[in-house]
Amino acid sequence: MKLRDPGHEIVVVERNRPYDTFGWGVVLSDETLANLKAADPVSAAEIARGFVYWDDIATHYRGTVARSSGHGFCGIGRKRLLNILQDRARALGVELQFETEIEGLEPYKGCDLIVACDGANSKVRSTLAHVFRPDIDVRRTKYIWLGTHQKFDDAFTFIFEETGKGPGGWIWAHAYQFEPETATFIVECSESTWRNLGFDRMSQEGAIAACERIFAGNLGGNRLMTNARHLRGSAWLNFNRVLCESWSHENIVLMGDAAATAHFSVGSGTKLALESAIALAEYLHTEPTMPAAFRRYEEDRRTQVLRLQSAARNSTEWFEDVERYFGLDPVQFNYSLLTRSQRISHENLRQRDKAWLEGAETWFEEQATGHKLPPGPNTARPPMFTPFRLREMHLKNRVVVSPMAQYKAVDGTPTDWHLVHLAERAKGGAGLVVTEMTCVSPEGRITPGCTGLYAPAHEAAWKRIVDFVHAETDARIAIQLGHSGPKGSTQLGWEEMDAPLDEGNWELMGPSPVAWSPSNQIPREMTHADMDRVRSQYVAATRMAERAGFDMLELHYAHGYLLSAFISPLTNRRHDEYGGSLDSRMRFPLELYRTVRAAWPAAKPISVRISASDWVGSRGITPADAVEIARLLKREGVDIIDVSAGQTSVEARPVYGRMFQTPFSDRIRNEVGIATMAVGNITEVDHVNSILMAGRADLVCLARPHLADPYWTLHAAARAGYTDATWPKPYLAGRDQLYRLAARAETSAETGTERV
Ligand SMILES: Cc1cc2nc3c(=O)[nH]c(=O)nc-3n(C[C@H](O)[C@H](O)[C@H](O)COP(=O)(O)OP(=O)(O)OC[C@H]3O[C@@H](n4cnc5c(N)ncnc54)[C@H](O)[C@@H]3O)c2cc1C
Ligand SMILES: Cc1cc2nc3c(=O)[nH]c(=O)nc-3n(C[C@H](O)[C@H](O)[C@H](O)COP(=O)(O)O)c2cc1C
Repeated sequence: MKLRDPGHEIVVVERNRPYDTFGWGVVLSDETLANLKAADPVSAAEIARGFVYWDDIATHYRGTVARSSGHGFCGIGRKRLLNILQDRARALGVELQFETEIEGLEPYKGCDLIVACDGANSKVRSTLAHVFRPDIDVRRTKYIWLGTHQKFDDAFTFIFEETGKGPGGWIWAHAYQFEPETATFIVECSESTWRNLGFDRMSQEGAIAACERIFAGNLGGNRLMTNARHLRGSAWLNFNRVLCESWSHENIVLMGDAAATAHFSVGSGTKLALESAIALAEYLHTEPTMPAAFRRYEEDRRTQVLRLQSAARNSTEWFEDVERYFGLDPVQFNYSLLTRSQRISHENLRQRDKAWLEGAETWFEEQATGHKLPPGPNTARPPMFTPFRLREMHLKNRVVVSPMAQYKAVDGTPTDWHLVHLAERAKGGAGLVVTEMTCVSPEGRITPGCTGLYAPAHEAAWKRIVDFVHAETDARIAIQLGHSGPKGSTQLGWEEMDAPLDEGNWELMGPSPVAWSPSNQIPREMTHADMDRVRSQYVAATRMAERAGFDMLELHYAHGYLLSAFISPLTNRRHDEYGGSLDSRMRFPLELYRTVRAAWPAAKPISVRISASDWVGSRGITPADAVEIARLLKREGVDIIDVSAGQTSVEARPVYGRMFQTPFSDRIRNEVGIATMAVGNITEVDHVNSILMAGRADLVCLARPHLADPYWTLHAAARAGYTDATWPKPYLAGRDQLYRLAARAETSAETGTERV
């Protein structure tokens, strides 16, 4: 602001002395530096001179060191950065008042503008908490911010150490150089490890000595140092994620960590603070009034902050839950670490370090096929195109056409629509095609247009479809069996979804008399005889599915239908042995699974689709419950969990976003140790490859993308230049043209030329 108008009188009030600071180095990106340069080239140049650059990330884990390149960071000492900014401010005529504690805003009443940038524990924010309405989330791990003279100047380094004391014995360090002689060394661990190791009872000196012993192998005899001696106690902290509903009040505006924090594992808090300062100064000069400036500032910066906080949350959670990944192979562990924020995808990693990524793809293919690839030039295929096996079902690739109701059946019989629809998708290259929810009885249908498997005509029609898929394609086909329960007797999908029929409604049943919504029928509470009948209907449908030739069976235990309604406490209010605890609510779904499994050939797999969250907080199914559900299903021998979420309550408040349900799949796969399918807003090849490579799922389901493009997989193969995807023979000329066009598009993108 002083640069923009030397007439401003600006005073910076700071409790510390000029050379005091907590913490060691910070990392900044080239992008932040460019923003700084545009705002003040003088301080930007000085900061750039203070930078230490590095390109690699090294991960020390289970006796291995994985190193990848192209990540491009720069670090600077926090002290150095502050001193550059202080000197520059002073040179421009800003008054700096050090060693001045702000207790309240009374002494500053006469100021035109108060910028409250007093950090994550901002007093200004807490004094005016009723207007700023902060939301502070105390995160789970413990960390201590240390420094060392050990050199980490060739890579940003993560070191994971197992201390061998009980299950929570892992502790890790984030280490990076920020000046020639000093590196930051942040030590982090779970609360239970922290207690196991006795850190809760140690002084700061004791804790540092213990960290030196744990990381001795990486410190080359150098000490760990603290500059947080002013902190009382041990200097271990929990990170506070700060959000505020409002950033301004009268002439006071929040900035930096006071307004919003981003976890240190994405190294962006300083970036956010600096860029917010630049934006605020800009708007205070370009907008006609201060309220207008505050509005612009908040509109503009809140979006940036939320985007970063979302990435930071993913990254924070990755470290909080890292113990679930300690079973992963070092290659996959490192990949999972690098992609933890979901900001970096498979193709980003290829751009950064092609050789490393090809090595990772080779590893993935070798473990998928059990065959070593020949040495020499890379021949690994994209992870999406690696095979997968469940029992004796061999899938050519990892793409699944997710079940999608078509509402085109007549009295439960699939029609030519289903033949053409499913056959097209099987021709389109996916490894597995799953039918829509196919109902085990007429009253178990969702709508009058739903398919069934309860009459000989159904079996014959399904057999025709399955036979076509097997004769003409190398896709596998699964049938999803379901019973609508409380969500039955409703209109077709493109009419009023989930609403009762205008006429011809049939009686509903469910675990308890809980209606889907106030306008839906109240289902009859099922008796034990009803349960026996439903079980036999499933067995009959299973036998028909076997005779029709399906390769896999998927049981639909999700989305509020009958079995899902048993699992969720929102819809199961029973007082008998089928209600109450999760174990009891799972009793009927598990009994049903057992009878179906007994009727289905041992060589063929069974998948179960679940809703991993009711999206209503602790009143409903939570992701932690989903882990227990998957554990129970695994114990019964279920082969794979298809991890969906929601559609179980009209009160659900889902948090949508790219790949928004994949974290549930990740958690189940890596905590339970069972194969999973991820689904939900996965639209790009890049997503599919990242999910598979990071071990977040074994198969990836795409629903809506397959409605828009039945040939999604073949098109993806052409774009990736992967030539082993099987095209139907009559379409080979189309294939050749597509590959030529894709290759040309690639060349013109590389050369930047437009071809006519
Ligand atoms: C372990 C760790 C590692 C980090 N690493 C990085 C990184 O690599 N890259 C990155 O970009 N960010 C990093 N950050 C985040 C970064 O440190 C903060 O986001 C950044 O410092 C925010 O700047 P700020 O000016 O808003 O707050 P602060 O830097 O906290 O500054 C607030 C200032 O206000 C002063 N103050 C507070 N209260 C009063 C009072 N009542 N009276 C007078 N003065 C007061 C304080 O003394 C302090 O100087 C890290 C954070 C942590 C915890
Ligand atoms: C038209 C349509 C019909 C669907 N029908 C079913 C179904 O029968 N069974 C099921 O489990 N999920 C069904 N779903 C949910 C999808 O399988 C999938 O989980 C969801 O659409 C999210 O994936 P997407 O983002 O790739 O579309 C349906 C989705 C759509 C769009």
